[in-house]
Amino acid sequence: MYSDLPVVYAVGETYQIMFYVAQDAYAWIKIGDSVFDDAVCGNLRSAVGMRRITVPQKTLDAAGGYTLCLERIGKRKCYRTAQKGVTERAFSFRPVPDSGTVRAYMVGDAHGDGARTIAAAKAFGAFDFLIVNGDMSESVDQNSFSVAHNVAAALTGGEKPVVYARGNHENRGATAECLPDYAPVQDGQTYYTFRLGGIWGVVLDCGEDKPDDHPEYGGSARFHAFRLAQTDYLRRVIANAKAEFDAPDVTHRICVVHADFPRVQEPPFDIERALYQSWCNLLSEMRVEVIAAAHLHRYQILHPGDIDLRLSVPCPLVVGTEKKNDRIGGTGFTFSPDGIETQFTFSTGEVLPAVRL
Ligand SMILES: [Fe+2]
Repeated sequence: MYSDLPVVYAVGETYQIMFYVAQDAYAWIKIGDSVFDDAVCGNLRSAVGMRRITVPQKTLDAAGGYTLCLERIGKRKCYRTAQKGVTERAFSFRPVPDSGTVRAYMVGDAHGDGARTIAAAKAFGAFDFLIVNGDMSESVDQNSFSVAHNVAAALTGGEKPVVYARGNHENRGATAECLPDYAPVQDGQTYYTFRLGGIWGVVLDCGEDKPDDHPEYGGSARFHAFRLAQTDYLRRVIANAKAEFDAPDVTHRICVVHADFPRVQEPPFDIERALYQSWCNLLSEMRVEVIAAAHLHRYQILHPGDIDLRLSVPCPLVVGTEKKNDRIGGTGFTFSPDGIETQFTFSTGEVLPAVRL
């Protein structure tokens, strides 16, 4: 079951507002006097399922709210489909502040346990934006993606922005190929840059964590080519620096990625050493201040030169989600003019002391 609350994902200079429609219905979003339709080449969509309406960040940030409009219909016909009336639901929206202190919380590695993931985030208290960092579920059927959607919906109420990164477990199962219909993507891809207030970020996607020909994948994996395409993408981002990480009002630069790829890996996980080093070098050119990862199920902060790193990194690597028996943990990030602080919190309500990076 999908939450009926929308989730506002940050991608590039847009928000992708995603919401699940449980009955055949047309949909549109109103922001002030502007209307954004869920339409394909002039036809409103109407089928049950996840929807995405993309709006300019500037428009929503300035308005501070939006209205989600649904019009239920009868069976869609070639002539005179019955229209059953419009319902409107208004949401306020709080953009990330351009300056001062900004708080974010990173969840990930829920592996189906949305309730404890939500509890871990609540232990951090109020935040300005949420990071959903992968392995929220495997991709067994069309309902699998409800874990990520529902956690984000419960923690933000559709009123705060969310950054999403795919984990390796989302690549497992029959609906893995459907994930781009349920998650924010840019040009159909799960890697992209985003901007929230003064914070600029790049989301990377390592795909799976073993070689493409590993028997676990049953011949389905083509992640080496996918990673090569990301290397090209990162070069294009650097070529466009003035509109990206070098924009004049950027205060912090971060990388969000599920896999803790710079960490020492045992076989068969020790893949792509040269390619991943090239990513670290490109992140260095972007002057990224922190790599926020998950995947390990254990909290760890690694600084450049740390013995547990196999790669040369330009900044600290925060491996920030825990999953142990009946306890789940995530990481709060506090961005301020003085730097970045992290704070690990647990579904049990425990809060570790904050650590300055
Ligand atoms: Fe993982």
